[in-house]
Amino acid sequence: MINIEPSGAACGAFVTGVDLSRPLDAATVKTIRTAWMEHHVLAFPDQQLSDEDLERITLSFGVFGREPFFVPLQGSEHVVALTRRADETAPVFAENWHTDWSFLDIPPIGTCLYSLVVPPVGGDTSFINQQKALADMPGELRAELEGRMALHSAKLSYGPDGLYGERDQQNDRSMQILYGEEANAVYRHPVILRHPESGRETLFGCIGYIIGFEGMGEQEGIELAMKLYEWQTREEFQYQHKWQPGMFVMWDNRSVLHRANGGYDGYDRELHRITIAQDTSKFLTPSEAA
Ligand code: SIN
Repeated sequence: MINIEPSGAACGAFVTGVDLSRPLDAATVKTIRTAWMEHHVLAFPDQQLSDEDLERITLSFGVFGREPFFVPLQGSEHVVALTRRADETAPVFAENWHTDWSFLDIPPIGTCLYSLVVPPVGGDTSFINQQKALADMPGELRAELEGRMALHSAKLSYGPDGLYGERDQQNDRSMQILYGEEANAVYRHPVILRHPESGRETLFGCIGYIIGFEGMGEQEGIELAMKLYEWQTREEFQYQHKWQPGMFVMWDNRSVLHRANGGYDGYDRELHRITIAQDTSKFLTPSEAA
């Protein structure tokens, strides 16, 4: 029987009693999906999974997401390795708060990570519940954000001058990251959106991929994005996830921010990652999902 144990923090739950290496039946998928919408981040300990299993699990919840700036693992079109070697000096990948690929026209609905090598110290992944951050937000700040479209771009990260652009090529990074002019594209998304499955309101994205707001000057936009950041990253909305080897984690990319943590210099770390995109042929409305 599936057991779901909340983390006790602002989001996150541990799921046991299900073997993800076997095909999931419709009832199990529904139970997991309901828990996913409730807790935003689900961790399944003690799983023995191949990259093919990661792809099969992804297809139980949607379709494969696009990975614009990663090179997939050999033999896989969709699975990417997040690696850091014990002797690597390159800055830890994804250490800033973000929503995965929020700079795409249609960002992924979820991301999955599976841990193969876990350092004995550090290397946690942190999450922040953006539905709670919005629900508890002071009215004055909310009024400034209401109805606004945020401008999202990957240029500060994956553009030629970005964090993972030309300069990063000098680093001894073991991960294969791509960069290019494609990163300069800008897409707009509401900063407050109604979650298409749960129907709950949520904040979407943060400064970094958010580079401004439609109809606002650059400086004014950055100031508002910073004000939002200070609120949306408060500790009371956070959950710090500790890894064990063989742990599968899936998060709802529409309702949390996340970031990687360092603190494991001298140790290897390797997680495999795949993103879930919405299967638009089976679009779930809040009433269908209930
Ligand atoms: C990510 O943002 O996908 C990476 C998270 C991690 O390495 O902990």
